[in-house]
Amino acid sequence: MRCVVANWKMHLASDEARAFCEDLLGRFTSEGGTEVGIAPPYTLLHLVSALVRPKGIQVFGQNGHAEAKGAFTGEISMPQLRDAGCSGVLLGHSERRQFFGETDAALAKKVKAAWQWDLLPLLCIGESLAQRDAGQTLEVLGQQLSILAETGPGPLWVAYEPVWAIGTGRRAEAAQVREAHAFIRAELQRHLAGTDYQVPILYGGSVTPESFPELLDIPEVAGGLVGGASLDPRKFAELVRQAG
Ligand code: 13P
Repeated sequence: MRCVVANWKMHLASDEARAFCEDLLGRFTSEGGTEVGIAPPYTLLHLVSALVRPKGIQVFGQNGHAEAKGAFTGEISMPQLRDAGCSGVLLGHSERRQFFGETDAALAKKVKAAWQWDLLPLLCIGESLAQRDAGQTLEVLGQQLSILAETGPGPLWVAYEPVWAIGTGRRAEAAQVREAHAFIRAELQRHLAGTDYQVPILYGGSVTPESFPELLDIPEVAGGLVGGASLDPRKFAELVRQAG
């Protein structure tokens, strides 16, 4: 199964989001069997869900709190994401880890909360440049995936996003992606041994229509989690076409 997910981060207002969805749907065919998702900012969830879900495109939250409700000003809960039309939620994006202090311990709770509310977690993992330069890439990925020892098995997508490749125009080399994805697959097999969960592993970090075909040729690359290029419906539709 191939998957292409747009992460809009903190971009677009409602008129822009509507124009994007209408343009995308004009180019979109769901015949390829590729799972397509959009993770808009919270204020756009209802609007985007109403427009794209009838066409089979999934909507993801960009984060979700582990508690179902309570005094957590500025946060959003998993049932609120469901109510707004989400079927999944990005968890552990490096920008959440870097700028908002997201920890693996908190993520384990969030993954369990997502399952409890029937949301598919798209767990993002990846090393910083300093960690790669220090030869710690696989150790970091193993640590980030070790939350699965705590959560136990469940439905999941994983995105490998090297932090140094996000928004920089510098995507990882094929050999680096191959090594990371093979390692992630082995770790997932260990954590999910004896279960039937099929976990697609997406690559993220400066994915464009120019670079995506080569990435898709790499074993264990099931698709992409796309930031900058996902804000252009023409480019995003092309990425979906390439995956299909
Ligand atoms: P870019 O595609 O802009 O590098 O962002 C990747 C990303 O962070 C997707 O979650």
